[in-house]
Amino acid sequence: MRLLQLGLLLALTSGFLAILIYITGVTNLYGKVNLSDEDLNALLSLRSDFQKCVRINGLGLQALSGADYCQIKIQFPSDTIPKWKDPKSGQLEGLLYDFNLCEAVATWEQVRNSTTILTREFIDALPNGWEEYAWRRINKGVLLDKCKNRTLCMEKLALVLPETPPYVPRQFDRCAVIGNSGDLLKTSFGKEIDGYDAVVRENGAPIQNYTNYVGRKSTFRLLNRGSAKALDKVAELDESGKEVLIIKTTVHDIMSKMIQEVPIHNPVYLMLGASFGSSAKGTGLKALEFALSVCESVDMYGFTVDPGYKEWTRYFSESRQGHTPLHGRAYYQMMECLGLIKIHSPMRSNPNRHVKWLPSHETLTAARIASEKLLRRLGTGRDPLGACSIVKKQKSRKKMKTTDLREAAMKHQNYVKGATMYPLEHSLGHGMLCTVPKV
Ligand SMILES: *[C@@H]1O[C@H](CO)[C@@H](O)[C@H](O)[C@H]1NC(C)=O
Ligand SMILES: *[C@@H]1O[C@H](CO)[C@@H](O)[C@H](O)[C@H]1NC(C)=O
Ligand SMILES: *[C@@H]1O[C@H](CO)[C@@H](O)[C@H](O)[C@H]1NC(C)=O
Ligand SMILES: *[C@@H]1O[C@H](CO)[C@@H](O)[C@H](O)[C@H]1NC(C)=O
Repeated sequence: MRLLQLGLLLALTSGFLAILIYITGVTNLYGKVNLSDEDLNALLSLRSDFQKCVRINGLGLQALSGADYCQIKIQFPSDTIPKWKDPKSGQLEGLLYDFNLCEAVATWEQVRNSTTILTREFIDALPNGWEEYAWRRINKGVLLDKCKNRTLCMEKLALVLPETPPYVPRQFDRCAVIGNSGDLLKTSFGKEIDGYDAVVRENGAPIQNYTNYVGRKSTFRLLNRGSAKALDKVAELDESGKEVLIIKTTVHDIMSKMIQEVPIHNPVYLMLGASFGSSAKGTGLKALEFALSVCESVDMYGFTVDPGYKEWTRYFSESRQGHTPLHGRAYYQMMECLGLIKIHSPMRSNPNRHVKWLPSHETLTAARIASEKLLRRLGTGRDPLGACSIVKKQKSRKKMKTTDLREAAMKHQNYVKGATMYPLEHSLGHGMLCTVPKV
């Protein structure tokens, strides 16, 4: 009897404790931050517009409020049948996904102002860049003993390492990112895709024989490890020979040999990217990240985003084991309703489709500023270099001819006074490394 009472008491107290932790946990989640009423209202407006946007554009998805101003849960209709199993746990993918809107608006804004191509200038400016970072971008780099022989490391990277960034933010106006989904064969987006200023493709996606569906134009191609090893085959996919090849992972001796001996004349670079946690790590998200760092607007085609998918399909080959399709789809819907991208698919095929109830530019900006405060991101304020945790003077370089740029890109260059911002992967506070021109 006594034992029972004790047990009950324990259960009660732990229950209270849990509630207490819940309450204080929510208010303390972001530390003590003073948000003005204006900031709070901005976050609330964003959330409510976002929820409407998902309801209207999400083909059945719903965005539910989470534990605080920032948390959101995206839910699939209950009759959705998940098909993808985590190979490790054997579990089917779930129907409910947590996202943090504050994190997303703040991080993607940084992406839009940064360079996502690895440069020599970046490694030089990074504290211990050659000892601690360079070898990570070389296949079997761990054998290089932290680039003890720096000449050797430089040689290995030389073919894919420009001195300074080849592109600036907003250099291109309208861009399209083309995924490899078999859905592309259900529509004929080819002409529409060729109308963009730049087109980003992925891995071994063929163009020839599919132009009616995927267009002809190809400006950039994002490559995972497997495709990068077959660089000669990939380079043949685009007949112009000018497509820029961007590798997500590392430079490999096989690739360097091909570049020199085949030879491959296309520019080849390594990507430098932000960290989005476990949200989605695939080539698709990386391609969007790259596009958002060089384009004014980004439209996406050929991603498995429509309800009722039966298997992971590819437009040019047998279906293939993908990864986390529902999680990815929810994430892309979030991106659309934050005004970052526009999704095209068989079920959203009207090229003039408007994303309805998109939060307004004012709402997004106000919510982003509030989010930066809440997350204690560097860069809240008027200083264009406020987001930089490391600032380095550039070595004497030729002054970039900004007059050749689009007006929006030129304006941005003036705003940042010619500085380049590089994401510091996994850095605390999401600070950036910035290089500024010598005056
Ligand atoms: C938060 O606001 C209170 C009252 O307005 C003020 O006393 C305090 O210094 C502020 N704290 C911070 C960290 O700005
Ligand atoms: C360093 O690498 C270069 C280039 O491969 C090579 O010529 C040189 O002998 C190496 N130096 C040492 C000390 O191993
Ligand atoms: C395109 O089709 C032709 C004729 O069927 C074929 O010979 C060629 O190999 C195809 N090209 C590609 C890249 O699949
Ligand atoms: C990004 O650049 C724009 C100007 O082009 C500026 O208004 C905005 O504040 C910048 N964002 C960040 C996070 O630095």
